[in-house]
Amino acid sequence: MTANKNMKYSVLGLILMCISPLLHAEDGHSLWLRNKGKGSVNVVCSKNSPTLALAKQELREGWSGNAGATVNLILKTDKALKADGFKLKENQIQANTESGILYGVYELLRRQQTGEVIKEETINPSYERRILNHWDNPNGTIERGYAGRSIFWRPSKDSLGVTEKDKTLWTEYARANASVGINGAVLDNVNADQKMLTAPYLERVKGIADILRPYGVKTYLSVKFSSPSMIGGLKTSDPLNPEVIKWWKDKVKEIYKIIPDFGGFLVKANSEGQPGPQDYKRTHADGANMMADALKPYGGIVMWRAFVYSTSDEDRAKQAYGEFMPLDGQFRDNVIIQVKNGPVDFQPREPFSPLFGAMKKTSVMPEVQITQEYLGHSTHLVYLAPMWEEFLKSDTYQAGVGSTVARCTDGSVYSQKHTAIAGVSNIGLDTNWCGHDFAQSNWYAFGRLAWDNKLTSEQIADEWIKLTFRNEGAESADWNNNFLKPVKEMMLLSREAAVNYMMPLGLHHIMSANEHYGPGPWWAPARTRKDWTPPYFHKADLTGVGFDRSKTGSNAVSQYHEPLASQLNDINTCPAELLLWFHHTPWNFKLKTGRTLWDEMCYKYDTGVKQVRQFQKTWDKIEPYVDADRFTRIQNKLRAQSQNAQVWKDACLLYFQQFSKMPIPYDIERPV
Ligand code: GCU
Repeated sequence: MTANKNMKYSVLGLILMCISPLLHAEDGHSLWLRNKGKGSVNVVCSKNSPTLALAKQELREGWSGNAGATVNLILKTDKALKADGFKLKENQIQANTESGILYGVYELLRRQQTGEVIKEETINPSYERRILNHWDNPNGTIERGYAGRSIFWRPSKDSLGVTEKDKTLWTEYARANASVGINGAVLDNVNADQKMLTAPYLERVKGIADILRPYGVKTYLSVKFSSPSMIGGLKTSDPLNPEVIKWWKDKVKEIYKIIPDFGGFLVKANSEGQPGPQDYKRTHADGANMMADALKPYGGIVMWRAFVYSTSDEDRAKQAYGEFMPLDGQFRDNVIIQVKNGPVDFQPREPFSPLFGAMKKTSVMPEVQITQEYLGHSTHLVYLAPMWEEFLKSDTYQAGVGSTVARCTDGSVYSQKHTAIAGVSNIGLDTNWCGHDFAQSNWYAFGRLAWDNKLTSEQIADEWIKLTFRNEGAESADWNNNFLKPVKEMMLLSREAAVNYMMPLGLHHIMSANEHYGPGPWWAPARTRKDWTPPYFHKADLTGVGFDRSKTGSNAVSQYHEPLASQLNDINTCPAELLLWFHHTPWNFKLKTGRTLWDEMCYKYDTGVKQVRQFQKTWDKIEPYVDADRFTRIQNKLRAQSQNAQVWKDACLLYFQQFSKMPIPYDIERPV
């Protein structure tokens, strides 16, 4: 490219960058909040505040109930209600707090717009804190972000000052969060930059917090453990050193002075090269408690991540449990251990992490990934609620039958001071926020599940489709049959389809290195850490494929409670969808379907490809029901997904066939 052309592109890029925050609004990108009200309403509320003003405004603008009705908003203490909970009636919302009123308003409007019944109900959230984790860097890039740059941070040459455009964008963001009950945002990457704790950055955090506050969204920060030595001029960051303790206390004081409702810290320590207490021969508890003590007087919390593994020979899937279980009971009550849903890393399918339910004397919070790092980025249509539902409903058996992950983390089984759930955000400056129109459903679904962890994926999909795609005046029965039904079916199948064409039967981490997009089961350069290469995970050889985590292997099964441990340990009772997670399985092993493992693998990959082709057909048929922009955008993405699925299938089958040495079954399409 010539210098001239380069310049032209960069000027264009600059213009686009300047206007893109505005585009969210201009493009009508109101996510699931695009419907306007259809009637007038009188709102009666004896108090006023910024949050209550929003509640009133939302009701007036979104009201679709009886025209001229009166709605009472009542702030009154009621023991049956938690902080954000509310009592709902057709014409009344009662809550203990202003945010409770706001959530009640969104619930009422959503029910009106989706045609759900509105009866007298007391509604409380499952988790106290429902938090988005933004992996946003201070220079505006986003780790594992596929929807453009950060909505919070910009290249370092730009000023940190808050502009009107910022405010508009953050208001839309806060409103979207509040409408689904999300009440917290960690504003920066878990691989934290020490800069975040310096005054100019904290000033911008204050600017963000001021906009998010009326919507009930608290701000949190990821912090670098070694900040005292990196920006504080200290010789050490040892958590037991008095100067270090004082440094954190002073820093926390400085933060609360400008952000009185600051939520607290998220910490990735001694994980993937990040500094941590172990650098000073201290434990995770020493590190987390030191910060927790500093935050305690202000009501702040520490979310301490358990995503740890080293280069040791021990099975990576076992390491977090090994490190954290001995510390159970040693953490302050304002520390929550944040645990990824699975024991490895956000794979298309993993068993739940054995830490859930096992840590009985410590608050534990789930972390799921909304951004599709391992699930086709923002190109593939993958609705993630079924994955999260499967995870939340998994029975840990830790306190008897029915000790699901959901119940072990939301305070139903163990009494813990704080409950929380986090989702790694998929939001960026892209005009549709998430890169793929259907990826918005994952933001929506995370919020809804965080609010009510008993909701089904189907109900959430149903709501989201109606709110996002139903145009006013659409003929109901026709729309239901020809849009809602097929699109919902497609969404509900999409996660299993992705598992099928990427990593069926418990295969995991076999994608190409670093960018984690396409297939790469063969990738194993000599000098790379073994536990970062796919062959470490699939262990394919002439005798079979899969990681032996049974008693005769790494014995990861022993980290699960009975009867699950025995069920997983036995190759004959281990669920087929996790077979290769737990067992190195012979190629000719017979599955319950009657097929050999090899044949089953071929069928799964082939099914995945066919499912995506079916999604394309489904989408082509709905053209009359959706605007041309969204129709074409999604059609193009599905075409790419279908081609990618084919590549996944062909690459994986041809790769594994060199070990199985078995033919592709006659009735599936040959790899091309
Ligand atoms: C994954 C991801 C990293 C991220 C890490 C984490 O490994 O690829 O980008 O930093 O998870 O969750 O800390």
